[in-house]
Amino acid sequence: MSEQSSVRLDGQGTAAEAVSDEVARSEEASILLDGQKVPFSEGQTIMDAAMAAGTYIPHLCHNPEFKPHGSCRVCTVTVNGRTAAACTMPAQNDQVVETSTEALQTERRRLLQMLFVEGNHVCPACEASGNCQLQAVAYYVGMLSPHYNHFYPQRPVDASHPDFFIDFNRCILCELCVRASRDMDGKDLFAISGRGINSRLVVNSPSGRLGDTDFHTGDKAAHVCPVGAILFKHQGYDKPIGERLYDRQPISEVGDARAAEQGDQSNE
Ligand code: SF4
Ligand code: FES
Repeated sequence: MSEQSSVRLDGQGTAAEAVSDEVARSEEASILLDGQKVPFSEGQTIMDAAMAAGTYIPHLCHNPEFKPHGSCRVCTVTVNGRTAAACTMPAQNDQVVETSTEALQTERRRLLQMLFVEGNHVCPACEASGNCQLQAVAYYVGMLSPHYNHFYPQRPVDASHPDFFIDFNRCILCELCVRASRDMDGKDLFAISGRGINSRLVVNSPSGRLGDTDFHTGDKAAHVCPVGAILFKHQGYDKPIGERLYDRQPISEVGDARAAEQGDQSNE
């Protein structure tokens, strides 16, 4: 062992290690995000780095409290000229990332239009209007019409639970409730059944009804739906439409509905 490397500074490391840490700090890894140098740390995705830097990248199936899922593709960005999902793409030093070119926004509009026509999203009649991430992202990317023909699927509403109902017409299959119930609540109450266009959310109970589960208001899964598919009973229209979260500020400034709502309540 060399004399220098054996010098202990604080009982934790050597002088050589301290110098090397200092060099690493001064050469902090970063990506070029829309022309701005944005630092990231080991293990972060492009979405993590962007969120930490306050840059909004539209997303639906992503929630920073959960492992990335990469299913909705609304967060697609270009990385060194190639498209990638920002929520699953690991940040790497010197990547050149573009988040909001006209081509990307056009693709996002198409994805959102497909989501809107695939379900039955009747915003003016939905309790989640103004708090809905699907609606807010659609506004953000300038979606003005559904463009495609509506499928008008016939899907049920499950009102069997005393405290919740599920409107399957509004489910965008983000799997946040599936992940929350399985990974955080330890209950595994939801699942996706079928494939492709036939995929649908199901309730894991013998009857397939939510009322036959122990789903509870304290469950994480009760609080993660980004649209109006899982809703609480007994508290409809507490806040009038027009005064709700995304009625007042765009999603690019407020962020995810749940986190923003919690911040809102703590400010009241
Ligand atoms: S019910 Fe809500 S949280 Fe669950 S998959 Fe559908 S949209 Fe996502
Ligand atoms: S938010 Fe990245 S794929 Fe859905």
